[in-house]
Amino acid sequence: MCGIIGYAGHRPAVPVVVEGLRRLEYRGYDSAGIGFCRSGELHIVRAEGKLGNLEEKLAKAGPAVTVTCAMGHTRWATHGAPEERNAHPHASNDGSLAIVHNGIIENYQEIKADLAARGYVFRSDTDTEVLVNLIAERRKSEPDLLHAFAAALREAHGAYAVCLFDRDEPDTMYAARMAAPLIFGVGTGENFVASDIPAFLPYTRKVVFLEDGEIVRADANSYAVMRTSDLTPVTHEVKTIQWDMQAAQKGGYRHFMLKEIFEQPRVITDALTGRLSAARDAVLLKELDALPVPKRLHIVACGTSYHSGLWGRHLLENWAHVPVQIEIASEFRYRESLMLGPDDMVLVISQSGETADTLAALRIAAEHGAQTLGLCNVVGSSIAREASAVLYTQAGPEISVASTKAMTSQMLMLTLMAIYWGQRAGVLSAEGRRERIAQLLALPAQLEAQLPSMHEQARMLSRKYAQARNFFYLGRGHCYPLALEGALKLKELSYIHAEGYAAGEMKHGPIALVDQTFPTFAIALDDALFPKIRSNILEVQARQGHVIALTNPGMDIAVDNVWRIPAISGPLSAFLVLPCLQLFSYETADYLGKDVDQPRNLAKSVTVE
Ligand code: G6P
Repeated sequence: MCGIIGYAGHRPAVPVVVEGLRRLEYRGYDSAGIGFCRSGELHIVRAEGKLGNLEEKLAKAGPAVTVTCAMGHTRWATHGAPEERNAHPHASNDGSLAIVHNGIIENYQEIKADLAARGYVFRSDTDTEVLVNLIAERRKSEPDLLHAFAAALREAHGAYAVCLFDRDEPDTMYAARMAAPLIFGVGTGENFVASDIPAFLPYTRKVVFLEDGEIVRADANSYAVMRTSDLTPVTHEVKTIQWDMQAAQKGGYRHFMLKEIFEQPRVITDALTGRLSAARDAVLLKELDALPVPKRLHIVACGTSYHSGLWGRHLLENWAHVPVQIEIASEFRYRESLMLGPDDMVLVISQSGETADTLAALRIAAEHGAQTLGLCNVVGSSIAREASAVLYTQAGPEISVASTKAMTSQMLMLTLMAIYWGQRAGVLSAEGRRERIAQLLALPAQLEAQLPSMHEQARMLSRKYAQARNFFYLGRGHCYPLALEGALKLKELSYIHAEGYAAGEMKHGPIALVDQTFPTFAIALDDALFPKIRSNILEVQARQGHVIALTNPGMDIAVDNVWRIPAISGPLSAFLVLPCLQLFSYETADYLGKDVDQPRNLAKSVTVE
């Protein structure tokens, strides 16, 4: 996830773009850059790190006051380390074109090889530099830049929102989108394109929501939207945005947490991008190709990331036959009798890639000679740098302290790892892989369709249970880690004491706590364990405990509140369960007036022991 902005108008463009980038920084902040044309030449200024570094560089470069057309980018690395050479804009070899890009071009390696054979050289590791050179190459045979741009985009598979500049048309910008956000802002004597509305909201509230497969060409006074496929014109209604700036930064949601919960369908799509074979019967994880299928896998993590690992274990064992042990990082790092060797692989899971205990666990594993693998969201983070191999979750920056979409992305990657190792070990048939991949591909639309009603149900239940001082969360099998996560979310956000338990363990002590004031949230899906968890629910009800049961249509269950979600067979049902748990905690905390995005005593990244 990155932020892009393009401006063509009458104001000094560089400050407009820099200010826009500041409001897009939530989308990425590991490097930034801007580009514009002056005196028949493209100018590109880029800097590693936060936007302040770019501003310092721009100040040194001298004012570009005469420029009234510019573009900018704030990066959340997906290809290549967060270094200046990988920062955008990227220029074509001949210096005529520059581009900023958000997204992933899935087939960039093939295109790059083809261009390299024609003599193109690449200074970065990015897919973006490949795209801009492909446009330059197509320009040689197409009648004009517009046709070349469209031709190149038709060859590029994957996701993109791009803005393109040509040194021969210094006052014009081109932009296009496919499966990545891009909004056109219609001003008076000025026009904008950006990844998100806040980037230009101080200047105009009039917007055109561009659709996938569309190109726009604009200058200060005019714009034209066309289909990428054949350049036929498209007419869109110009809409007026009513939100204020604060609401706009949260995409119109009350909190970042709610926004991030609703981003989860997109996160699943992004995590799948570039990871599946064209025939949709195999998983591609080239980062793991050089490593063996683990003989023994140890998963180590903290907090929500630990719960992802606990859930992923079921898939890794069942689908790939990889034996898995899992441990909390703060325990793992101080175990005296760690038995690790070259046959062991230690997978550390960390959204931030900086959690002190997880990082220490990684170092200890490496000292013991184990292979190490990181599953991180933040590119270039300490864990990502130090692990022998790293997989990125590509969930984009998570702003809310309580983790939501990062967990979904971790679970998705663990699912892909299970299929990948299953296919390499020869234990998961092509048919089995196809079936699971088809389930994965269906998930974003299923979740998208369900989120509004889940939210409504969570609201209703939160009003009913917000006064509880304690809560149990029960689950079995792959739903047990989800019960732990549900409980963690409720306590993190609403400060209501909540315990997650393996439902079968309740009778060994915890059930002593149950009475009318101590409700239970049970995850009781349509699977082989349903009769077991139903018995556990009856045990709770026999002690006058009130119960919410999250279940599937047709399941025979009599409790205070039955919350039904569509059935998805097997563990992938977790992708519908998790948002329900998140939304219930979110709504409870919000109803109680708690600081949802920044709960007391918690930190997003815990870099101390
Ligand atoms: C903190 C955060 C949690 C997170 C945990 C592990 O406690 O508040 O939301 O799950 O750290 O973080 P990591 O970045 O390693 O996944």
